[in-house]
Amino acid sequence: MSNIVEFRNATKKFRSVAAFRNVDFTLRKGEIHALLGENGAGKSTLTKVLAGLYPLSEGEMLVEGKPRSFGSPAEALSHGVAMVFQETNLIPSMTVAQNIFLGEENFFNRLRGVNIRAQQQLQRLSFHVEPTALVSSLGAAKKQMVEIARAVQHNARIFIFDEPTATLTPEEKQHFFALIERLKADGGSIIFISHALEEALAVADRISILRDGELVVTDETRNFTRQRIVQSMVGRQLENELYGGAERRVARPAGRKVLALENVSMGKTVRSATMSVFAGQITGMFGLVGAGRTEMMKIAAGVLKRDFFHGGRIRLNGRAVRFSQPRGAVNNRIAYITEDRKLDGLFDTMDIAQNIFYGKLAKRANPVSVVTMSEARREAAEWIRRLGIRTIRENARVVELSGGTQQKVVIAKSLIQAPDLIIFDEPTRGVDVGAIAEIHELIQELADAGAAVVVISSYLPEILAISDRILVARQGRIVEEMSVEEASEEKIMYAAVH
Ligand SMILES: Nc1ncnc2c1ncn2[C@@H]1O[C@H](COP(=O)(O)OP(=O)(O)OP(=O)(O)O)[C@@H](O)[C@H]1O
Ligand SMILES: [Mg+2]
Repeated sequence: MSNIVEFRNATKKFRSVAAFRNVDFTLRKGEIHALLGENGAGKSTLTKVLAGLYPLSEGEMLVEGKPRSFGSPAEALSHGVAMVFQETNLIPSMTVAQNIFLGEENFFNRLRGVNIRAQQQLQRLSFHVEPTALVSSLGAAKKQMVEIARAVQHNARIFIFDEPTATLTPEEKQHFFALIERLKADGGSIIFISHALEEALAVADRISILRDGELVVTDETRNFTRQRIVQSMVGRQLENELYGGAERRVARPAGRKVLALENVSMGKTVRSATMSVFAGQITGMFGLVGAGRTEMMKIAAGVLKRDFFHGGRIRLNGRAVRFSQPRGAVNNRIAYITEDRKLDGLFDTMDIAQNIFYGKLAKRANPVSVVTMSEARREAAEWIRRLGIRTIRENARVVELSGGTQQKVVIAKSLIQAPDLIIFDEPTRGVDVGAIAEIHELIQELADAGAAVVVISSYLPEILAISDRILVARQGRIVEEMSVEEASEEKIMYAAVH
């Protein structure tokens, strides 16, 4: 098979530090090629060069046999290269159809025609998205569909997907895999970045692995096992496989009741939910998307408001509370650590220490304990060490960090406030296997130190690996509670579905 893309001895430096170096990478025509590696290994940067976001510092890039350097994503697209980003790149205030045709001349003059053509395009791809809907009203999966439809509309032949499955439900994932198979059958060539190693093993023809900016191996997928991938990624053997720890843990006993939701309701998403969370224990919350887990916890953390009438009651350490804003909860030592780092996590243009510093300022419970910037830098350094945060430069601004590294900064920023109740919403999404182990260990330490910890996860093995006690949500309420000793994947799934 011929190479449609070829990197030769390619290096990309940011201010003299290499994000990747001396990389020889090929993409064959008509293949699905998985690109794997730890957070900060250089996956996004390599593909961004192909997509026209950065030029190479050294070496060459050939596309369809010709040396190329694209000055912009639009130029890359005109040569058939389309990138679907880790964080979506659509214009939220425009409709689906407008986004699909964005960049085509005269399209504002032909709005009606645009809707009809978008409808045909979406149908051909069997995407159920309304062309006239505003992009801002769509969920992650539908936004992704719009991006793909847009790429196909522009005759893309080379598709780059940067962590496309991170925000999808299991069903949407299946749909996505069917879609890339179809793109491949139509002659498309696909680069697929993911932290879910099973996905790479299942869908890719070949796998390449980056480690600290170097390409350590490219091989046919059939020559890989999960073990070999992990070993190539981290350069060592991970002591025990993450979720494999077959020996049953003994659940930590419940301490005092820290949080109680009593018949809490909010519109149609949370319907009379009742649950408790105890100190010194990890409470796992499982449920299918739309079960209301995130909303229940956001209400507890003051991010969302429950119904004014018949909205139920929330008790914190036995006392009824109603937070009108998140700061109220923060001051009561509640931390809600979001899954959506783009929206409410970080200040993009500040560095890690500054972000952590503002995390401290957000908590005004004790105005006397105002931190200085140098203290913040010291604490930042401590958290960078504890969470294994890797950056190529000290003082890197958040926009310069890799996706998974940003997630770690969000965690550090909240934990630095020494909360008693810590709610993690999908804490390891987009985080590499090595770091998942580190984050899990950190969560265990927090519970051991007496904090009440909630972990929302859509990944059953994670729920089972980390929880002492498991709550299952369905249709806006908690329907089942079990200790980890009595839990199994089947039991939890049964409760979540029936
Ligand atoms: N615009 C930038 N300026 C400076 N440094 C950058 C920039 N973009 C990326 N880097 C650095 O380059 C390195 C590689 O980052 P990259 O985003 O490619 O990693 P990644 O493999 O995609 O990681 P993740 O799995 O966490 O998304 C990181 O150390 C990152 O901090
Ligand atoms: Mg990335």
